Amino acid sequence: MQTKPKNIPEEAPAYPQVRMRRLRAKTWLRDMVQEHHVRPADLIWPVFITEGTNASEPVASMPGVERLTIDRLLESLNRANDLEIKAFALFPVVPAEKKTMDGREALNPGNLICRAIQAIKKELPEVGVITDVALDPYTTHGHDGLIHDGKILNDETVEVLCEQSLIQAQAGADVIAPSDMMDGRVGQIRSTLDANGFTDTAILSYAVKYASCFYGPFRDAVGSSGVLKGDKKTYQMNPANAAEALREVALDINEGADMVMVKPGLPYLDIIKSVKDTFKVPTFAYQVSGEYAMLRAAAANGWLDYDAALAESLLAFKRAGCDGILSYGAVDYARLIQKNK
Ligand code: PBG
Repeated sequence: MQTKPKNIPEEAPAYPQVRMRRLRAKTWLRDMVQEHHVRPADLIWPVFITEGTNASEPVASMPGVERLTIDRLLESLNRANDLEIKAFALFPVVPAEKKTMDGREALNPGNLICRAIQAIKKELPEVGVITDVALDPYTTHGHDGLIHDGKILNDETVEVLCEQSLIQAQAGADVIAPSDMMDGRVGQIRSTLDANGFTDTAILSYAVKYASCFYGPFRDAVGSSGVLKGDKKTYQMNPANAAEALREVALDINEGADMVMVKPGLPYLDIIKSVKDTFKVPTFAYQVSGEYAMLRAAAANGWLDYDAALAESLLAFKRAGCDGILSYGAVDYARLIQKNK
């Protein structure tokens, strides 16, 4: 006698009564029973901003991605907004002469990121502005925090991150996104924002950020790869750990995070799923620079269809439970959707 898999009850209908291919036979049917969808409004486009005017520089390890001056950024955001991409994550490229051991340029209310926020809010008041909180673009050592005797200081760094968050909120940021992985920073940032009247400024916590090699191209883009001394393993998570991710998320939610993020993305879909299933809070993932670079590199060799691979990978995030996805391919995807309308 044939044995059935254990999870299917004996009386359950089976072949030939059931034919799974029946619902796959026609496009309209496939569309009708499709479980998950990616809308452009689910995407956050990370952008790199550089000093100057009317200039753009390609990022060699991220084909299709450019560092843009604020004026050029506004044009790009306008076009993206027309394609229904509504939220942007801003990353500054800080010139070497402004980098210091303590990253103090991060606290300058006239710095590149604050000027960019103000320009966007003036030009495109309806779009969502998400800003990175961490010191790595501003430090000569490329670490996300203050360093002493080779050790990344936690509590001292958190104090600086609170100030950094406040100047970004004052400049008009809608969402503060701490990516530094210091302990306790979400709670302290929340208190600082609230104490200064920014009770409606949201926090998207990079709650689960792994010490990943997939950030390589990003560090090229912001110019921190040449300067980074050592690695970030004393503050970012060990890629071998899963249960620890749930502890990180629990802490950040308790400290007041409105949304949590898992990063990188595709190699960590298991983590995304368990975070969403466990906490049921708005959950985001970052399809990071190395993931984007892999798609682009394979496509450049004619080995993968970029558009199809991008669309499939974004869908995978949704299937795993993501509410939103940060992706360098956000605008490419939105354009594809428009074309296929
Ligand atoms: C640093 C930061 C990193 C990224 C976003 N914020 C890199 C790092 O931790 O070294 C990576 C994003 C990407 O790879 O696309 N605060």
